[in-house]
Amino acid sequence: MKGREVLIAVTGGIAAYKAAALVSQLAQAGACVSVVMTRSATKLVGPKTFEALTGRPVGTAGFGPGAHPHIDVARKAEVLCVVPATANIIAKAALGLADDLVSTVVLAFDGPVIFAPAMNLQMWSKPPVQRNIAQLRADGIVVIEPGSGYQSCGEIGTGRMAEPAAIFDAIAKQLAAIPYAG
Ligand SMILES: Cc1cc2nc3c(=O)[nH]c(=O)nc-3n(C[C@H](O)[C@H](O)[C@H](O)COP(=O)(O)O)c2cc1C
Repeated sequence: MKGREVLIAVTGGIAAYKAAALVSQLAQAGACVSVVMTRSATKLVGPKTFEALTGRPVGTAGFGPGAHPHIDVARKAEVLCVVPATANIIAKAALGLADDLVSTVVLAFDGPVIFAPAMNLQMWSKPPVQRNIAQLRADGIVVIEPGSGYQSCGEIGTGRMAEPAAIFDAIAKQLAAIPYAG
């Protein structure tokens, strides 16, 4: 993990706070971590948290600093992990939509992509969500199956995001399959 370039895309699910734990674990393992966030994600966890954990500026806007923010951040990374992945980003990625920084980065990135879905059990069980998940898998994206358990809405069921340790392992597995250029 030491010196490896990991790009974390945080979308607007309540599990966004767990993305901070994951980023901390990656940084402690020596990874160089960049973070991009959707507008919804920034309402749940502040970009400053990720800036402090990574020591790098956090991308939140497609028309932010830099000539081509989505390309610059995508070029640098060896692996991209969307955590948590909302029903919205799953749908956008399944269709190839690119209407904000995160969805554009997902399209612009040329390497292994991991999605860690997280949502309410009713949302997760809906046919369009399951169709979109199947499409992501068919497109070669690694989808970390959500688990079952307590959800922040107070219900118990499937849709709870995988634990940060399991997502860390999935990232490490993808990195192990790529020759280290550093
Ligand atoms: C408190 C709160 C928690 C939310 N949690 C989730 C969630 O876990 N999963 C999900 O798919 N959407 C969740 N949403 C809805 C998304 O934030 C919403 O669909 C948003 O448009 C997603 O945008 P993004 O994918 O660009 O981040 C939540 C909304 C709020 C207000």
